[in-house]
Amino acid sequence: MFIEKNVALESLNTFHIVAKAQTMVRISSVNDVLAVLVDPKLALQPKFVLGGGSNIVITGDIKPLVMKVEITGKHVVQETDKHWIVEAGAGENWHDFVTWCVYSGYPGLENMALIPGSVGASPVQNIGAYGVELQDRFHELDAINLDTGETFTLNAAQCAFGYRDSVFKHVAAREGDFGLGGKTLITHVRFALSKEWKPVLGYADIEKKMIALGLEPTNYIPTPLQIYEWICSIRSAKLPDPKVIGNAGSFFKNPTVSAEQCADIIQREPKIVHYHLDDGTVKLAAGWLIDACGWKGKSVGNAAVYEKQALVIVNRGHSEIGSGAKGATGGEVMTLAKAIQTSVYERFGIRLEPEPVVV
Ligand code: EPU
Repeated sequence: MFIEKNVALESLNTFHIVAKAQTMVRISSVNDVLAVLVDPKLALQPKFVLGGGSNIVITGDIKPLVMKVEITGKHVVQETDKHWIVEAGAGENWHDFVTWCVYSGYPGLENMALIPGSVGASPVQNIGAYGVELQDRFHELDAINLDTGETFTLNAAQCAFGYRDSVFKHVAAREGDFGLGGKTLITHVRFALSKEWKPVLGYADIEKKMIALGLEPTNYIPTPLQIYEWICSIRSAKLPDPKVIGNAGSFFKNPTVSAEQCADIIQREPKIVHYHLDDGTVKLAAGWLIDACGWKGKSVGNAAVYEKQALVIVNRGHSEIGSGAKGATGGEVMTLAKAIQTSVYERFGIRLEPEPVVV
């Protein structure tokens, strides 16, 4: 096992924040994890699992041991009458995996094309886009308990998926409490992709795209590859490519309020963008709330609210990696985020919750 010291993290987080890992090991297999856990120097150190770095804000050098997950491989592990069970190593790039599935004839993930990050991180925040969430296609995952070295498999119910949430986002205070955050390394994820594939349409952006292409949204049945291409084009038009402009996707979750609270807000703000959910609550578009407070294009240092999508905070200072350009610090990102939270709270009485993990 190769132990790296003072590793530059700029290219390992999609915000491209400049920081160092004091100690880092690259994890290419389950055996690499087990080797860390029996190593006399490393075993007792606090640990930080790093996937694609697409959902973190780094606010300083990382002192815990960084375990950079690079477990690769993607293949069909089982075929039933109804499903292909497709497995990927946690270190696979999410979009490359989606692309491989679509082109190999295993559809179902195409609505989640171009989401930044790795396969291993995808269940942690139950990624989702354009009407499909990871939990809708999830089968099982394999993981290792970093305290005990025990390997285990979890199904969807055991992952306790919620909106951008799972058991891995919660840290248990005591043994037996809910939460596997901070002590779990996901090694492989399996997806159940239905052979009776049906397109998931109905999302306003997809309908607009179909109309622009001269297709009738209610009659036309697209192929998985068409949906994949439309999603890539929709996302590229309004979300910044992290390779070009550092960012971590949506910075805040879309908040939910009760029907009564929503009715009250609508009286004051008739234009508020909202969606009624099956459980009777109402989801508000955080991007709209932030936009309405006039944040688009505003900045703190080199951290700025993206001009085309107010839900995204970007690193304006990042250019070519290693160019020496002074990018945003994690502190600037968080100061901007807090100012946004305060102004949205003052105007709407709603507390926005950040999506990325702050380290
Ligand atoms: N809006 C504005 N101004 C803005 C941004 C948005 O008025 O600056 C309005 C839009 O007009 C639209 C509504 O807000 O009516 C919702 O915007 P959009 O459709 O872009 O989706 P979103 O709620 O901002 C969510 C996910 C995205 C996902 C898209 C598409 C969250 C936190 N974000 O964004 O996921 O791609 O829906 O399904 O749920 C991510 O999590 O990193 C992410 C990009």
